[in-house]
Amino acid sequence: MSFDFDRVVDRTVGNAEKYALRQKLFGTEDLLPMWVADMDIETPPCIVEAVQKRAAHPIYGYEEVPQSAFDAQIAWMKKRHGLSIQREWMFYSHSVVTTINTAIHAFTKPGEKVVVQTPIYPPFMHTVTQNGRHILRNPLKRSEKGDYTFDFDDLRSKIDADTKLLLLCSPHNPVGRVWSREELQALADICLEHDIKVVADEIHSDLVYAPHRHTPFSSLSEAAANITVTAIGPGKTFNVAGLAISTVVVQNEAMRERFSTAYERIHFAQGNVFAHAGFEAAYSQGEAWLEALLVHLQKNSAKLEALCRRHSEKIRFVPPQGTYLAWLDCSGMDLGNRELRRFFIEEAALGLSPGTSFGKEGSGYMRLNFAVPSSVMDDAIAQLDLALSNFGEYGL
Ligand SMILES: Cc1ncc(COP(=O)(O)O)c(C=O)c1O
Repeated sequence: MSFDFDRVVDRTVGNAEKYALRQKLFGTEDLLPMWVADMDIETPPCIVEAVQKRAAHPIYGYEEVPQSAFDAQIAWMKKRHGLSIQREWMFYSHSVVTTINTAIHAFTKPGEKVVVQTPIYPPFMHTVTQNGRHILRNPLKRSEKGDYTFDFDDLRSKIDADTKLLLLCSPHNPVGRVWSREELQALADICLEHDIKVVADEIHSDLVYAPHRHTPFSSLSEAAANITVTAIGPGKTFNVAGLAISTVVVQNEAMRERFSTAYERIHFAQGNVFAHAGFEAAYSQGEAWLEALLVHLQKNSAKLEALCRRHSEKIRFVPPQGTYLAWLDCSGMDLGNRELRRFFIEEAALGLSPGTSFGKEGSGYMRLNFAVPSSVMDDAIAQLDLALSNFGEYGL
């Protein structure tokens, strides 16, 4: 079966965040928005059809997440990630960020510390501080070549008796790392030694490029599973963030009880009837689409890599091992962050996420979302190519 990843769908007609906020964020509507992490690529036909079918039934009342939907996700996790999950370990959640908030409430008290590995998806920081907990900042370590890894020495030197939780982003947004089993094991060893629980945000885990393989944190060992809350869902994989559905897996019974207490207080309820239908269709019928999508995304990533190679003295880019997010090292342009942002908006007409929104370690970086149809990617490359060629030449 073939899928069309080249079709451009007009998202300006709706209220798509990526487009609707252009004026507010960039001061103009006249740019290509490549920021928020959803795709400008159509949601798979199997999901669209399932949602349409559900919509045809004229009662949209309260509805349980169907057992068959959870079963489909359980089978998916086993097949694609080798992870065995039992239904009774699972919770429905409308949002991974809400899951993180819930886990912070369940496993920490105000004033305690939560490890955050910067640069990082911004809500990892906000959820900690907004709940009156402290961020224990453990920045990723960057090599000369631009690769990132964990900084275990820094982490060990900072952990104290108040350190209770670590927020793991795997694969990592924004740097695109798919953590190796060895890296995750070393992290698990530290957490186990210091009685630190882990929220493993694995929302990007299906978007991984061969030869890399996602290792679920809870699959490392029984001991690791016993300290882990895992967040997974179809939002990124199948471009259904707007359906607002994900799941939480908590294997350890005592942890599940604590999580459940915080969860009940918030009243997640059963979620949205259309999300139920889309969720089940995604995990039971979406695999061929995902395989084709990964090929398409890699082509876009390769185009960007070629562009950056041409302008390597200005922009450096290590292709992501997972996610559709490119972490562009623009330090060679030697601009302040404000000027760098202005360059992308005004000279390249591209709306990217500024690196500093992921923490101060993102200074000099921009994040570009390349989950777009081929022609849009070609436009973005051409715009950036011209802007980079002019940069320096005309004193821009
Ligand atoms: C790592 C990560 N976690 C969570 C989310 C958001 O998930 P949700 O919309 O389910 O809250 C994102 C979105 O970009 C993300 O990149």
